[in-house]
Amino acid sequence: MSKTTTEAAPTAAATQDAPALEVRDGRTGKTYRMPILMEGVEGDQAIRGMDLRQVKADAGEFGLMSYDPAFMNTASCKSAITFIDGDKGILRYRGYPIEQLAEGATFLEVAWLLRNGELPTQPEYDKWVHDITFHTYVHENIKTFLQGFRYDAHPMSMLCSSVAALSSFYPEAKNIFDPEQRYTSIIRLLAKLPTIAAFCYRHVKGLPFIYPDNDLSYVENFLSMIARMSESKYEANPVFVKALEVLFILHADHEQNCSTNAVRAVGSSHVDPFSAVAAGVAALYGPLHGGANEAVLRMIEEIGHPKNIPAFIEGVKGGKGQRLMGFGHRVYKSYDPRARIVKQLADQVFAQIGMDKDLEIAMELERIALSDDYFVSRKLYPNVDFYTGLIYRSMAFPTDFFTVLFAVARTAGWLAQWEEMLLDKEQKIARPRQLYVGYGERPYTNTLTTKNPRTKKDSLRR
Ligand code: CMC
Repeated sequence: MSKTTTEAAPTAAATQDAPALEVRDGRTGKTYRMPILMEGVEGDQAIRGMDLRQVKADAGEFGLMSYDPAFMNTASCKSAITFIDGDKGILRYRGYPIEQLAEGATFLEVAWLLRNGELPTQPEYDKWVHDITFHTYVHENIKTFLQGFRYDAHPMSMLCSSVAALSSFYPEAKNIFDPEQRYTSIIRLLAKLPTIAAFCYRHVKGLPFIYPDNDLSYVENFLSMIARMSESKYEANPVFVKALEVLFILHADHEQNCSTNAVRAVGSSHVDPFSAVAAGVAALYGPLHGGANEAVLRMIEEIGHPKNIPAFIEGVKGGKGQRLMGFGHRVYKSYDPRARIVKQLADQVFAQIGMDKDLEIAMELERIALSDDYFVSRKLYPNVDFYTGLIYRSMAFPTDFFTVLFAVARTAGWLAQWEEMLLDKEQKIARPRQLYVGYGERPYTNTLTTKNPRTKKDSLRR
């Protein structure tokens, strides 16, 4: 279709031959011409929401808005980072197919690519890896902070709070328009997320925290901080190292999903990146988003045996709110290309370390769902989270830790998207409109006899 256009299109007046949408307002009979933006080599098309504002029945009116709960059809930004074609099942980072990156790249190479737009040269990569390795330690007070959590705290709550707390250790991170400061913050976040994640794991287990080992690769060091006991040097299982590297790459970015949108929206207030990324962690925690990998495993455990699957599927189809977790996606409507890679990865891992006890349930669920009209007609296919949980469990990660692994990887994408948002001249503080459906003006009447009721002592003493 069209070639890449980076300049902002005119908001109202379009030349006669430029692509435009002509809209006739049935109330007034007036016709409006709205330029159609044709963006990028993939030819994404849109009209500007602000162009609707000129449509008014009366001159004194505010003007027309678009109503789009959950952003079903609203582009909130222009982005050059990740491309998804949901119908064809395509995912690319900066133009590179996810299958090729998963096959040949390292996670830190992908993190560089997401941020910088090109693959790193060797000197660039060496410096990047050095800088990230150099910053893996966290302030000792983070340990004290983590020790304040109860033994059964969910690791995503701990991670979210600790990432937010990092902001207080680096007040200079507020200088978000200083490129050097941005670089340092990005390095710090990529470096410290695995350390904090591993500390959360050790806290829940009641084990001593293991400090980073800077001789190891990013993934090996993470596994060392998770699993090392009394040995002086941790040697990770190469099958697990490879699996985690690939899973981190698959999870590194996914354009404007719920958590990335949260990072961009919070970051648009010009807060520091630690606070913005903490918002991303919070959004990822939810079961409809990153929390799905945990929910899939809990669902499989609840099913317990393949013989219980038909009744479970009937329950899902019964429309009582139960969902087949790990199925469906807002964007992918043919298949999730990440799910295909994860399935192959699961086969490789299980071939080396033995079959997961619940793999049969997972495969049977998938078989039924792919042939049942309820799922087929709604285009519900396995997503990335369907098989990741089984791989993580085979690596002895506890179920409630799965989303933490997702968060460590997604930090790379959040940071690339955050910086792109900051440098985008068209962006402003994210501030949607609403359609107000509450009361019109009415006078206040005092219905209370006391404004400051005392709490009864008994109700405090249960
Ligand atoms: N199981 C059963 N029915 C489903 C499912 C599911 N997993 N997902 C969607 N549906 C049904 C839904 O009930 C609706 O049916 P109907 O038209 O009869 O009302 C129809 O399919 C459309 O669903 P929707 O909720 O409008 O779709 P959405 O695009 O808003 O939701 C989703 C996308 C991922 C939130 C949803 O498919 C879901 O809840 N899946 C399970 C949770 C999950 O696996 N999430 C991980 C997503 S991938 C990782 C990530 O990026 O976070």
